[in-house]
Amino acid sequence: MRGRGTNEGERERMRAGPVVLGLVASAGGGVERALVERVAAPLAARGFRLAVTLTPTAARWFEHAGALPALQALTDLPVRWTSRLPSEPRPHPVPDAFLFAPATANSLAKLALGIADNQALTALGEALGRGVPLVVLPQAGEDQRAHPAFPLHLAALRAAGVHLAAEYDDAVAEIVSRAAD
Ligand SMILES: Cc1cc2nc3c(=O)[nH]c(=O)nc-3n(C[C@H](O)[C@H](O)[C@H](O)COP(=O)(O)O)c2cc1C
Repeated sequence: MRGRGTNEGERERMRAGPVVLGLVASAGGGVERALVERVAAPLAARGFRLAVTLTPTAARWFEHAGALPALQALTDLPVRWTSRLPSEPRPHPVPDAFLFAPATANSLAKLALGIADNQALTALGEALGRGVPLVVLPQAGEDQRAHPAFPLHLAALRAAGVHLAAEYDDAVAEIVSRAAD
């Protein structure tokens, strides 16, 4: 617990040092701009220390778009997408809360099933297991949403206490509120 009301929570946070927020993004359309402008920038401006992990496909998109420097500029921690070697130290501290935005149908399904075949899903799966606040913004097309397993994946995440956001502003507002509680 970081405090009860927003003001009390923010005062306590200033005393304890910045809250580390795990930020995970997968390869949904527009992620290269949305993650920087609608998620990471507003959260960094509120004083969160961002531990950013991309799926391998999202990282490829960021690299191709030349968008990694803008993202990296918003945090002192390395933006990562690969797993560490056993002999290497952990590049990120353990985050206090996680925001997964956007969550593709693919990565959302993997999270719901506990599949951790990349660093982004490993971080998210462990967060779900630890029970830290987790907000997810699903972003899937009509056909992906019509897949018979899609509603089951959403239901599994909801049942685990995950907040499913409707859009970026909602996702950011919700993680700010949950991380401050
Ligand atoms: C231009 C483009 C836009 C895409 N947008 C979405 C999307 O919004 N939601 C989604 O679930 N998949 C989308 N996809 C498909 C995913 O990128 C694809 O399923 C990928 O394997 C997801 O990988 P990840 O979940 O590991 O990031 C898109 C693909 C392309 C090429």
